Amino acid sequence: MCNFFSIFALDFHKMASLSDIRHPVEAGWKRYEKALRETMQSDEQIQQKVLDYIVARAGKQLRPLIVLLSAQICNPITDKTLRSAVALEMLHNASLVHDDVVDSSGTRRGQPAVHTQWSNKVAILTGDYMLAKVIGLVAEVRNIRILELVSQLGRSLSGGEMLQLHVGQSMWIDEERYLKVIDQKTAQLFQACAEIGAESAGCTTRQRTALRQFGRLLGLCFQIKDDIFDYSDLEEIGKPTMSDLRDGKVTLPLIIALRRAPQPEADHIRSLGERLAANELGSETEKALQEIKSFVLRFKGDEYAVQQMIEYKKQATEALQVFRDSAEKKSLIDLLDYSINRVQ
Ligand code: IPE
Ligand code: IPE
Ligand code: MG
Ligand code: MG
Repeated sequence: MCNFFSIFALDFHKMASLSDIRHPVEAGWKRYEKALRETMQSDEQIQQKVLDYIVARAGKQLRPLIVLLSAQICNPITDKTLRSAVALEMLHNASLVHDDVVDSSGTRRGQPAVHTQWSNKVAILTGDYMLAKVIGLVAEVRNIRILELVSQLGRSLSGGEMLQLHVGQSMWIDEERYLKVIDQKTAQLFQACAEIGAESAGCTTRQRTALRQFGRLLGLCFQIKDDIFDYSDLEEIGKPTMSDLRDGKVTLPLIIALRRAPQPEADHIRSLGERLAANELGSETEKALQEIKSFVLRFKGDEYAVQQMIEYKKQATEALQVFRDSAEKKSLIDLLDYSINRVQ
């Protein structure tokens, strides 16, 4: 039962900022930032310009933060931790540079995406260059388990994007398949960050398992929130909204609304969505997008997605029970809250 005080606590709970969350690993974070700048280098002048453009528009850098916290919750961080953190942030950035081409999405982090600023060719080659750097960094880590995890991750990320093209673009996709897509394309990266961080600091098997589970659940929350964003009006997001649907991508809020609506209405929305994705609506496109958006909100598909994140948050917090209380543990839990409540 909800009492007055718990409502009070909920309303006035202040969300930790990213710099609060980073606090326990502040010393390691500075070394990570320096190492990232040193790695984003090329002998080719043109390539260097693109890399500088990416470095100057850094994102939230959550993945290296997970690496550092997951290492330090076990043992002091090592050079292996720092190299892994750089490698995983670069892998993430490479995947975004490619993803914006795949998704025909023109804006990233509030600025023109690499393919908009230069061209698709430059974006593909830059992503490839960064992936090559990732391999070099991982080689320097000299840990076969980390190498295996990164290799597996590469397959999972591209597999997830491919699966999304295949089943994620159908108006008939169900919740289970959607989860498979977001697990592969996003949650596996969060899981790898947590596991590799732990491994880099010489964790125990029990700690590794706990952090793996935590990372995956955090990643699922993170992508669900991203998919809710697409149905919002927030300007801070820094990338276009209503763009998943425009591109034919069906995500959790719409899947749920379609499941809840009476069949004739769901059929109507499905056919509208199919015509939209096939680019058949011409000047009617914007109207159709608005119609689908209000359909999703009316059947509370977004609210269901929020409930789902809360459930994953609960499971992720439980996974951390093997650790005693510490500043690192608090930051990992705050990161869950941050991912669920973020506006960027
Ligand atoms: C964007 O990730 C890609 C998704 C998995 C949704 P972020 O929102 O972490 O991107 P940046 O790096 O902070 O821009
Ligand atoms: C991102 O998925 C997952 C990646 C592997 C890059 P999205 O396509 O939803 O990410 P955004 O919305 O472009 O950041
Ligand atoms: Mg995208
Ligand atoms: Mg998205």
